[in-house]
This record gives sequence, structure tokens and C-alpha cells, in this order.
Amino acid sequence: MRMRADRWLTTLGVCSRSETKRLIRSGLVQVNGRTIRDPGESAETETDSLRVRGEELDGRTVRHAMLHKPAGLLTAARDSRQPTVMDLLPPVYGSIGCMPVGRLDRDTTGLLILTCDGEMNHRLLSPGRHVDKVYEAEVDGRLTEREIEAFAAGLELSDFTALPAKLEILRAGEEGSLGRVTVSEGKFHQVKRMFSAVGHGVRTLRRIRFGPLTLPEDLPEGAWRELKPEELQALRDAAGME
Ligand code: URA
Repeated sequence: MRMRADRWLTTLGVCSRSETKRLIRSGLVQVNGRTIRDPGESAETETDSLRVRGEELDGRTVRHAMLHKPAGLLTAARDSRQPTVMDLLPPVYGSIGCMPVGRLDRDTTGLLILTCDGEMNHRLLSPGRHVDKVYEAEVDGRLTEREIEAFAAGLELSDFTALPAKLEILRAGEEGSLGRVTVSEGKFHQVKRMFSAVGHGVRTLRRIRFGPLTLPEDLPEGAWRELKPEELQALRDAAGME
């Protein structure tokens, strides 16, 4: 992305716009190995190298990540009182405007995508696009064929009828069951409400897939990593982007 050097440093959260100007005028900023002195000089944020006070910085302002969300964090870009998922990423992700794609409840764990691409974010969540999400839910009581059929038929909830969803029973017992659910919409508390509608409280909920991306086995709870180019491309395809 082409950007003025002062805006670039401010966007990266290096310092405020006025401090940035001072920094540049003092000759403490190098772009591609050359000292710049004009704060208005433009740079290519994704490819130009950046050094500030002699230290090499990662200057990319467009980033995409996946996080294995642990329980206990709010899915939000920021919150004045409570810890959010952004607290698990380096601060630069917040500075450059990375946002979670959709929401997981505070007690839900699993795959969360974060992106700076607002259009892709919006498209992935658009109700008409039906991006599949897969969850594993530990629930009270025994899951049976009856629940599989009810999910497949489309459950009547208080304010909407859920689209047909696929329920697979991974374990069933009177003391509790484990189900895998695939839903193609993302309404508030959707999966919990669907189980509740057939008489099963949800004890734990974990998202294991979002669209084309699966939660990697080697990504422990609380850990994050950047999306690989092929993962980003798959997401862009799912979002119907050129
Ligand atoms: N459905 C829920 O009920 N909660 C989540 O966090 C995600 C889907």
C-alpha cells in the first residue's frame, strides 16, 4: 500500500503523527537503506524496508492472522474494561486495524480469523454468502437421531428459523455427549440456542473450522500465527473476491 512516511509510522503505532514528523526530520528513519527527511515522502508499506533509530521494523500494514481463542476473552477489536482477543496479538495488529471476523462468545474456544481487509471481513459474514462454520459441542444428556433430524430440518428459535444444519454425534451417553455441528449462518449464540431448543445445555463449544480453514492441530490455545498465502487465497475465494 502506498502511504506517506509519517502516516506509515503512525499507522504502525511507532509514535504520534507530530513525533513521527520530528523523527523523520531528524534523520532517524531510513526507507530501503536511505535516510529520508521529508515526512510527506511516500513509501510502499508491504515491500519497502523500514529502519527507525537504527532498528529494522516489519512495516507491513496489511496482515491476516488466525488465533486459537481461549475461553475468557471478548471477541472485539477493543474494550475499555475487559481483555479482548487482540491482547494475544502483537500491538501492531491493533494499530493497523486488524479486526476479528465475526464473534465467538467469551466462553467459546477455537478458530478465529483476524484481518485488516474490511471488505473481505464483511463479505465472509454476509448472511447471503453462507460460509460454513464447524463447531464441536459438549452437551448435557444423550444426543440421538432425533436431534440430527431436528437440526437438518431447520430449528425454530424464538426470533428466527435456523437454516438446516448438519449434526454428527461423536460420542453419546446419559452423562453427556459430543456433537459436531456445521452451520452456515452466524447469529448470536446460534449453536447454543440450537442445542437448547432440543433440550441440551452446552457445556463447552469449540470452533474447529471457518469456511475453508481448519484449526491446525499444532496451534495451541492462546497461540496465533499469520495466514499462509494459500489460506488467505482460500478465504478470499470463499468471500467471492477477485
Ligand atoms: N454459536 C454460539 O452459540 N456461540 C459461539 O460462540 C459461536 C456460535
